[in-house]
Amino acid sequence: MFELIGKPARGKTCEAIQGILAKGEEIMEEYKGTVALDAGLISSAQAVEHYEMARYGTLVAWANQLGLTEAVPLLQATLDGEIATDQKLTQLADASANPKGKTVKAA
Ligand SMILES: [Fe+2]
Repeated sequence: MFELIGKPARGKTCEAIQGILAKGEEIMEEYKGTVALDAGLISSAQAVEHYEMARYGTLVAWANQLGLTEAVPLLQATLDGEIATDQKLTQLADASANPKGKTVKAA
């Protein structure tokens, strides 16, 4: 991606994802040893996926608007991967972690 736009790749701390991960750690501590742990872990993983879907969805739209035609399929492939992972987590929750089938589904 950075090669395509001619910019150097650099990392930057994201407080939003750090907060999501911290919440996941909190759930692990709070529900350790209980039947709710798996459901809690899946919900945490889905929070990460939803964040990634939001970010990659925006990047796909921006790449389209900016005419970055080579970048769009790369970003779309990543977005599709995030969506697929979210769907697998929903299936896992429906199948095993949430006995009553109650899950958090992406809009
Ligand atoms: Fe992901």
